[in-house]
Amino acid sequence: MSRTVYVNGEFLDEENAKISVFDRGFLFADGVYEVSSVIDGKLIDNAAHMARLRRSLSELRMVFAMSDEEIIAAQEEVVARNGLVEGALYLQVSRGVADRDFALPKDPKPSIVMFTQEKKLVDNPAVAKGWAVITLEDIRWRRRDIKTVQLLAPSLAKQAALDAGADDAWMVEDGKITEGTSNNAWIIKGGKIITRQLSNDILHGITRKAVMRLASEDGLVVEERAFTEDEAMSADEAFVTSATTFVMPVVSINGKGVGNGNPGSVTLRLRELYIEEARRS
Ligand code: PDD
Repeated sequence: MSRTVYVNGEFLDEENAKISVFDRGFLFADGVYEVSSVIDGKLIDNAAHMARLRRSLSELRMVFAMSDEEIIAAQEEVVARNGLVEGALYLQVSRGVADRDFALPKDPKPSIVMFTQEKKLVDNPAVAKGWAVITLEDIRWRRRDIKTVQLLAPSLAKQAALDAGADDAWMVEDGKITEGTSNNAWIIKGGKIITRQLSNDILHGITRKAVMRLASEDGLVVEERAFTEDEAMSADEAFVTSATTFVMPVVSINGKGVGNGNPGSVTLRLRELYIEEARRS
């Protein structure tokens, strides 16, 4: 069955959903995006995704006329038209069509597209086993706080991880873990939950923020700081967070088991808390 895709105000069959070769998203990766999860047909934490979208647009000096209300109405319509119960809603805004020039167009006409992807998020079969990750040098640009569609480095890192028989890569800069290819990285050590502090070095994850709050409310101690590969390898538990994995246990790093080599109990509890809250809201 063909999906219905949203392109610049129109709902089209995916075969007919097209963007110009002159779109700056295609030529310069001049675009930003958001991935919101959908559970029970509802967008999760979408207001936070909207706020981050606005920030990304503003950091790239991209003026986009649609209001949040208009964007959300279109998002909900795409979810409804596709009968999506569980999965992800992808949204991308690019600076639009202009003749190829490194200078920004004087009169930009941004493009917006949205589509759905069906995924098992709550009963994700990978959770029981957990993820194996490898570490790789972080070769991305230095504004990782902006959610741009410039995803070649993490895409190559993901493939390198899969080629090595792992599930994902944790990227390393100056001896410290930055984040996963498309998720934030966490470790638990001596009862403390540790994740890198916010800066331009990482994406400011929406799931990260929710999990940090849930952990604190649950009486756990959260420490925001960078951690080394060695520290991660000797952690009691490890996990990643993102809109599409929620809280995913990490059970090994570079082939060495984390803790007892199984998904950690605190990690699984945080996953439960996150899903409970998402379902309730
Ligand atoms: N990725 N870090 C990076 C580099 C990411 O690409 C993502 C999300 C995250 C987690 O952010 P959030 O919790 O807001 O999903 C962290 C999405 C899921 C993607 O690119 O598909």
